[in-house]
Amino acid sequence: MGPDGQSSDSMWEQVQQAPPDPIIGVTDGWRADPDPRKLNLGVGAYRTEEGKPYVLKAVREAEQQILADPAMNKEYLPISGNAEFNRLARTLALGPNSPAIREARVATVQALSGTGSLRVGAEFLSTHLPASFPRIVYLPNPTWGNHKSIFGKAGFQVREYRYFDAATRGLDFGGMTADLTAAPPGSVVLLHACAHNPTGVDPSREQWRQLLELTRRTRLVPFFDSAYQGFASGDLDADAAAVRLFAEAGLELVLAQSFAKNMGLYGERAGALSVVTKSREVATRVESQLKLVIRPMYSNPPMHGAAIAARVMGDPKLNAMWQEELRGMAKRIKAMRQVLYDQLRARNIPGDWSFVLKQIGMFSFTGLSRSQCEMLVKKWHIHLTLDGRISMAGLSAATAPYLAEAIADVVANA
Ligand SMILES: Cc1ncc(COP(=O)(O)O)c(C=O)c1O
Repeated sequence: MGPDGQSSDSMWEQVQQAPPDPIIGVTDGWRADPDPRKLNLGVGAYRTEEGKPYVLKAVREAEQQILADPAMNKEYLPISGNAEFNRLARTLALGPNSPAIREARVATVQALSGTGSLRVGAEFLSTHLPASFPRIVYLPNPTWGNHKSIFGKAGFQVREYRYFDAATRGLDFGGMTADLTAAPPGSVVLLHACAHNPTGVDPSREQWRQLLELTRRTRLVPFFDSAYQGFASGDLDADAAAVRLFAEAGLELVLAQSFAKNMGLYGERAGALSVVTKSREVATRVESQLKLVIRPMYSNPPMHGAAIAARVMGDPKLNAMWQEELRGMAKRIKAMRQVLYDQLRARNIPGDWSFVLKQIGMFSFTGLSRSQCEMLVKKWHIHLTLDGRISMAGLSAATAPYLAEAIADVVANA
């Protein structure tokens, strides 16, 4: 349609069909698949041994308490969200003895789960990094698919650093440190706090120490994405070790936290963005500017998920229940690694499959090629992202043998 409004064509005729999201699209494909053997190994959400979504008991209990609370209302939250949730969230990540928290040097706002926290953080950095800093972000290769768009939309030039070594299916630490050493000073470096998605490969404690020194030396701005705290090892403190190492060394850093996986609050969109600064005064000013990012984006965040998370973290009984359930979820995923490994070994599939046991967290990065993955989808009705990432959480003792049989077939015949 022309601006004169004369044509009968839609003014949207020129709009192109967008490709489906590579991760969300997997679940759409799985839903549409009529085969009864179908498996969804694309989904980044915990499933029970029966393949069902799981609502944590601590979460159900917290919801009941919220419902029964006569003080509960549906008023707007402040722009920065639920203050108690923010306090508990940053303490969860930085630790109860964090010097930065004690000195009130941390600005925290509630945001829309991990994605929204990353987006608000990227926007803040893009506007408020010193003028002399380049707007460049370094992402691991590979990384969670959304990182590129999030930082790209915020005006960053996106670059990659080497991360995954296809030969060893482990960390390419030499490549990583070489690429980050060569980064222009003032670049942002995105680091997965634990349980790297999609590879399940994390730096060791000693390697984190070296990365800390490198970050300091090269004057990079560390941005931690913490989407799996407690979900990786079952231990909330162990999974926060890298973030705490950097914060306690006195570095200024940015931290996006998600409660999607570790509290099973996927659709509730509970997350927090923290900026660790050098002083209380700077933190206060940073928080005021974070609010200016949020206000024209969505005004203020949703209340229910944060209210649940605040109760679960803040109530000693619910907190203990939560940690018990977290350990249980992490344990089931680890057990699936062993079951799958045994099943693969039993079929004498060529190659070293021990990476299945070594990788950490929800995913295993199999190294299967695109054509092998396509054959898994088409012939075996096993739905996964075509980069070869499988969700260990989507697997059960009953389905692991079927997956191993399918992998044996595609390795031999794709
Ligand atoms: C590495 C990483 N970051 C962030 C997210 C964001 O998740 P959400 O926005 O659901 O909290 C995910 C989810 O899969 C992730 O894997």
